[in-house]
Amino acid sequence: MEFVDLKTQYSILKTKINERMNAVLEHGQFIMGPEVMELEERLAARTESRFCVGCASGTDALLIALMALGVGPGDEVITTPFTFVATAETIALLGARPVFVDIDSRSYNLDPKLLDQAITLHTRAIMPVSLFGQCADMDAINALASERGIPVIEDAAQSFGATYKGRQSCNLSTIGCTSFFPSKPLGCYGDGGACFTNDQELATRMRQIRVHGQDRRYHHPLVGINGRLDTIQAAVLLAKLETFDTEIADRARMSTSYSEKLSDVVMTPFVEPSTTCVYAQYTIQADNRRDLQEVLKANGIPSAVHYPVPLHLQPAFFVPETNIGSFPQAEAAAQRVLSLPIHPYLSDSDQTKVIEVVREVVSNAATCPSN
Ligand SMILES: Cc1ncc(COP(=O)(O)O)c(C=O)c1O
Repeated sequence: MEFVDLKTQYSILKTKINERMNAVLEHGQFIMGPEVMELEERLAARTESRFCVGCASGTDALLIALMALGVGPGDEVITTPFTFVATAETIALLGARPVFVDIDSRSYNLDPKLLDQAITLHTRAIMPVSLFGQCADMDAINALASERGIPVIEDAAQSFGATYKGRQSCNLSTIGCTSFFPSKPLGCYGDGGACFTNDQELATRMRQIRVHGQDRRYHHPLVGINGRLDTIQAAVLLAKLETFDTEIADRARMSTSYSEKLSDVVMTPFVEPSTTCVYAQYTIQADNRRDLQEVLKANGIPSAVHYPVPLHLQPAFFVPETNIGSFPQAEAAAQRVLSLPIHPYLSDSDQTKVIEVVREVVSNAATCPSN
């Protein structure tokens, strides 16, 4: 059983993917070829954003967004400690300081109730993450941010295709950033990402930053990076986009099935009724996570911990002001979360096997006094 089954997906979409990739090999415009513009148009339309800027990765998308907003040394950017490292890494790379705010224990996303107290005169941006495929409470975050005149970047690396109160993830704030890492709900065959905005000036800056800060060849009004999306990757994404909605529906169906059959024995994902989740991960909580993971492995079932160490406890982001106990919800989640296999090609029989093993381990632990 695969955690994410890209081989089966390829065998089903092979003709379309090969056609698209071969077209790039034929025309030879590997850098900023026509597929990049075509994809940007398609993704902008899909998210109802005015602008989409393809990037070399989700990490570069975040970096480009922060650079476009002018984040630099001495600035603070508020974010969550319960996320993939890239969220805070990009802030630190620019010489700014990630300021963490604890998460809501049910959604795993930044708790807007705690935001106000973290804002200072140095706060230059707020960067919530739409974790596991469900949007953060963007209305609450945006409301506070706009009161204080602070831009908001949605780290939507895991949530492309999700909706929040009827609107699309990536188009919920000043800038939205996503990732097309192969295992993401919409993934390419290498690294890829995109930034979204409705602000023309920001879009122009982001387009320049992704190509060494240039506005025309060898003219550089800004300091930038080499952050372009490869044409080949855009071609793969165009092919995969055709079945993306069906795949999202399949993920949702599988998550419903998991939750129906597991919610009496473990904590299953909580999805706000006003949102739809793309289930980049299907993440449960269990007391005996290590045992559960071992038994799953012994039964040929892969699982993963997203994420075992919150970022404020990572040496790279250590500051004396925060330590163990500073963000109790993130720390508690890090001890207990476990992601189960979920992808559009997971067979019913494989899913049944996962459910049976989880139920058995958890029930045994409950009845065995030594545990
Ligand atoms: C929340 C989050 N932010 C940023 C990233 C970085 O994306 P990429 O791996 O495409 O650079 C990821 C990727 O896993 C992620 O999950």
